[in-house]
Amino acid sequence: MSFDLILFGGTGDLVWRKIMPALFQAFRHGSLPEGGRIVGVARDDLSDDQYRALIKSRFDNVELAKRPSEEEFSRFAALLGYLRMDLSNPADYAALAARLQQRPADVVVMYMATAPSLFTTVCEQIAAAGLNGPQTRVVLEKPLGHDLASNRAINKTVRSVLSEQQIFRIDHYLGKPSVQNLFALRFGNSLFEPLWRRETIANIQITIAEDLGVEKRGAFYDSTGALRDMVQNHALQLLCAIGMEPPINSHADAIRDEKLKVLRSLKPWTPETLGQHVVRGQYAAGTIDGEAVPGYRDEKGVAPDSRTETFVALRTEIANWRWAGVPFYIRTGKRLGSRDAHIEVNFRPAPHAIFKTSMAGSNVANRLVINLQPKDGLELHLLAQGADQRSGNHHARGTPSLAPVQLDLDFDKRFGSERVGAYERLLLDVLDGRLNLFVRSDEQEEAWRWVEPILDSWSSDSGAPRSYAAGSWGPSAASAMIARDGYCWSEEC
Ligand code: BG6
Repeated sequence: MSFDLILFGGTGDLVWRKIMPALFQAFRHGSLPEGGRIVGVARDDLSDDQYRALIKSRFDNVELAKRPSEEEFSRFAALLGYLRMDLSNPADYAALAARLQQRPADVVVMYMATAPSLFTTVCEQIAAAGLNGPQTRVVLEKPLGHDLASNRAINKTVRSVLSEQQIFRIDHYLGKPSVQNLFALRFGNSLFEPLWRRETIANIQITIAEDLGVEKRGAFYDSTGALRDMVQNHALQLLCAIGMEPPINSHADAIRDEKLKVLRSLKPWTPETLGQHVVRGQYAAGTIDGEAVPGYRDEKGVAPDSRTETFVALRTEIANWRWAGVPFYIRTGKRLGSRDAHIEVNFRPAPHAIFKTSMAGSNVANRLVINLQPKDGLELHLLAQGADQRSGNHHARGTPSLAPVQLDLDFDKRFGSERVGAYERLLLDVLDGRLNLFVRSDEQEEAWRWVEPILDSWSSDSGAPRSYAAGSWGPSAASAMIARDGYCWSEEC
């Protein structure tokens, strides 16, 4: 199968940080179809060779094991080309069309690695140049819009020139091997399914913590914030994967239908829940790994009086038969204690206690932890009779006591180098036309519809986000919120 991959925003961060390294890994693994051309598109005046040299220099920032040797890069570089384009100029699309027609490919992928404000222009211009034929696929990066209305406007334009089957909306969390294993855990094994419900599960916590700050994206981030950047997409997709019903098969629409139902079942916000169940924070100066780091308002590109949130914690419920009454907590933020994304499924305690436990203060004995990153695996926390039993103390006390133990499964150790990274997986899926791991427009709109009351309540509130020190786990209000239900975040229990 021959393909053309056109990278709009070809000199930008996303291309050299994520897309090129992923394409190179696919090339190295022999999974990139033969006969491909990869064309970077941007405003800079570059020749093909200058573009190759630029990409080559960027590989110096990639971890050593994933960096090409000279010989590998020269073979990979043979696929790379460059086209200078002004994305608002129709004549430049005609030049692109001419270049593509030199050698018509089976699949043409237009990857929008640009600012989202350009998505509609590029899609309209692609269509005007006749480049929206059935072999065309468009990849749209998040954020797709700023709110429900702008998301709908983008979707409407894109849908007016391409069919839904041709549109690949990326949420790179869905491409992570750990997230695919979450689907495997739930729908490839029968063990947990009977327990996966309100009768047995006390609460579910989704944490996506980053220790990095806003890096070089201060200006972008300041107009975006954590709710739009992480919750509307990544965190809600994880919540869907945890909460959805088993799909009838593994086809894209069967999976997306079930995710959509979860999004539609999320409890609507009320003024009361908006006040009590949502906490926003912003990092102040602090220490990460022993090094002093500046506060958010001192980051480059950020307004000195910015009210943008860099942390969100919230509590919601999925209002359906399976989950009614079970709290789902979501927490995400920048400059937190460590890079750590995981989901905790906390089971209800045994209904009748015949043992003592050493877990004073915690009402959760059994816990399934789905580690997403940097660890990737499963931990099953149980209670067992431990070392103190040898001392015979339990006989003295009359009641045997139990201590926490855990079963550990480390997918990185188990599968090692066979694992395929998120962008590599997703790019190969685009080339294959597989939509399973991409987000449908109705899912995306539903997610915007649900977060919008939070955005509205913040914009009408004159208060600022709560401050937290960089390197901490966010404002104390996030702990108070979960403590009101009698629970605690994992690092606090
Ligand atoms: C992106 C956000 O979608 O995800 C970034 O825009 C964030 O702000 C990133 O840092 C996190 O991705 P990962 O794969 O490093 O967890």
